[in-house]
Amino acid sequence: MPKTVLVTGGAGFIGSHTCVELLAHGHEVVVVDNHVNSSPQALDRIAKTAGRPLAAAHRVDVRDRRALSEVFASHPVDAVIHFAGHKAVGESVSLPVEYYDTNVGGTCTLLSVMREHGVHRLVFSSSCSVYGDARSVPLTERSPVAPTNPYARTKLTCERILEDVCAHLGEMKVLALRYFNPVGAHPSGLIGEDPRGVPNNLMPYIAQVAVGRRERLTVFGADYPTSDGTGVRDYIHVMDVAEGHRVAVEHLDDGTGMRVFNLGTGTGTSVLQLVAAFEEASGRPVPHRIAERRAGDVATLVADPSAVVRAWGWTTTRDLTAMCRDAWRFQELNPDGYPR
Ligand code: WQD
Repeated sequence: MPKTVLVTGGAGFIGSHTCVELLAHGHEVVVVDNHVNSSPQALDRIAKTAGRPLAAAHRVDVRDRRALSEVFASHPVDAVIHFAGHKAVGESVSLPVEYYDTNVGGTCTLLSVMREHGVHRLVFSSSCSVYGDARSVPLTERSPVAPTNPYARTKLTCERILEDVCAHLGEMKVLALRYFNPVGAHPSGLIGEDPRGVPNNLMPYIAQVAVGRRERLTVFGADYPTSDGTGVRDYIHVMDVAEGHRVAVEHLDDGTGMRVFNLGTGTGTSVLQLVAAFEEASGRPVPHRIAERRAGDVATLVADPSAVVRAWGWTTTRDLTAMCRDAWRFQELNPDGYPR
């Protein structure tokens, strides 16, 4: 049953790919984005990639209650996917107030406006970073949470707020998705990961070195207790993440209250393994040097993805080669990212 889905942060990396997935499956999509960390160009590319237009796109900050309420008043919103927020672990250490104001304050404003308009279905963008420096992997949804930086704490704080809202408002239906490391791009190469400034994350940095935009990659630490000493993460193709969000929207009516799911592949890949896979997929060298560990980093984060398989009969389907191949295609077609 197609729905009208309001996507906050819909012009961003994961948001734009999720909009394409929703459109391709017949849903109507309304985007709300302040474009602080995304390009308006992505909106045109979403329509081109999906082959059909967005219902609407509004340049609105989720903390702007009046403007957000006007958006809800203009569209028959059935469900919301909430991506809008800051997401760089390192940056959150130096800008904690901005992170809490946007990530937590924005979520509270959104929940208030949803209630004002009688909208009670929400998919929330959470993060594996809530697990912190996990003692044992793979991580299930029942693994202890121990966030180690302001970004991760904003995500866990939002989960706690959502639990309380669901306990108070019986009709709320919330799915919190803790995704691991989304990478790659839509296979068309029309949309992809285009961070502003110097990339914080590994994959876009590697892609920019391969295309000649950056001189070489700095590997943050080679003395971790892992197979080759470098950090291990659970990289998941952004189209699998997008599909997971679409499937979540279609399962929101399975029950009331809040449920939490990990979105990962269950496979760990080290930094050096990802470099090698990207060189293989792109045919380009990725020069790199080993440096000290990055503050706030942990050795290994890998998901146990079985809960979504049991609940939704859904699993990821794209492997590391596809992640590198698709990330490279977007970078090669857009060497300087989206036109500014
Ligand atoms: C991965 C590995 C680094 C850059 C991300 C997001 C966060 C959350 C979880 C969704 C680590 C190493 C990195 C570089 C490097 N996602 N690295 N050189 O830290 O796992 O966090 O996923 O909520 O929002 O930030 O991802 O890509 O920054 O780092 O060696 O230039 O690559 O040390 O081992 P991270 P990342």
